[in-house]
Amino acid sequence: MIDEVKLERIEKRFRNGFTALKNISICIKRGEGPIGLLGPNGAGKTTLLRIIATVFPQTSGRILVNGSPLEKFGLNEYRRRTGYLPQRFGVYKTLTPEEFLGRIGYLYYGKGFEKSRLKDVMEIFGIEDYKNRPLSRCSGGMIQRVGMAMCLLNDPDFFILDEPFTGLDPIERLKAMKVITKISREKIVLFSTHIISEVQNLCSRVIIIHRGRIIMDGRIDELLKNIEGKVYEVTTSHKNMEEIEGRYEVLRIKNEGENMCIRVYSDLPLKNLKQVIPTLEDLYYLGIKHGE
Ligand SMILES: Nc1ncnc2c1ncn2[C@@H]1O[C@H](COP(=O)(O)OP(=O)(O)O)[C@@H](O)[C@H]1O
Ligand SMILES: [Mg+2]
Repeated sequence: MIDEVKLERIEKRFRNGFTALKNISICIKRGEGPIGLLGPNGAGKTTLLRIIATVFPQTSGRILVNGSPLEKFGLNEYRRRTGYLPQRFGVYKTLTPEEFLGRIGYLYYGKGFEKSRLKDVMEIFGIEDYKNRPLSRCSGGMIQRVGMAMCLLNDPDFFILDEPFTGLDPIERLKAMKVITKISREKIVLFSTHIISEVQNLCSRVIIIHRGRIIMDGRIDELLKNIEGKVYEVTTSHKNMEEIEGRYEVLRIKNEGENMCIRVYSDLPLKNLKQVIPTLEDLYYLGIKHGE
């Protein structure tokens, strides 16, 4: 059983000399709910998840599983207990979901693969309604659920998903989120995204990555406490924008017809501006700005 995965000072340098990950140390445990790895495109999310899924090795640093170095825990054992959904994956379009999952199960687990497991994963992801439809006629969301089901075939303890909600419509997204929430009650679930609201809606813990570094990591409510009373909102006309930008640390700007609604951050109290309740979005932009 995997209860805890810890990364210590992970670095990844690609062959072309580019360092995609710098000094990454995180510890994730069972029972934290879905953990969101949030960061802009190119931040290093896929690279980090590939290392955690042992698709390729890190350049330096180490991975500890339940407190033991990965090699000591056993690489095969670890892989057997891990389910990894890549950002892009292929399916055989001529097969139906049931056939596809059945074949994958057989391919990986041989004769020992239990048909009941196939039924279970199809039920978990609501695939039964379309289990006999060729994948060529399934929507992106349906295929995404088949992909997630594929990763659960071996009943892993640790579920790693790279941008699992990208390309889903709002209803499909909601369905997938519900399943992930349920799964996270008994498994470790780590997923990546560049969409703040996905983390906001799904996670109590966020890990924010930017330019290959972790810039924030913790419970969202606790991280927000740190900036409580330091976020303000000001509504102004377009022509005053520059002045505001020059005076304050601007987090983000929202267009409101004639006016602009600007959220600013300040460590010192700003008496003439309206204080607002900070959100994950504020935290994110603040982190990114300070990480530049
Ligand atoms: N094989 C590779 N060789 C060189 N650079 C790479 C390779 N794979 C990814 N990168 C670079 O590493 C950075 C992080 O990429 P990636 O992990 O895919 O980011 P994300 O998933 O957050 O969008 C990007 O700048 C990307 O161009
Ligand atoms: Mg990616």
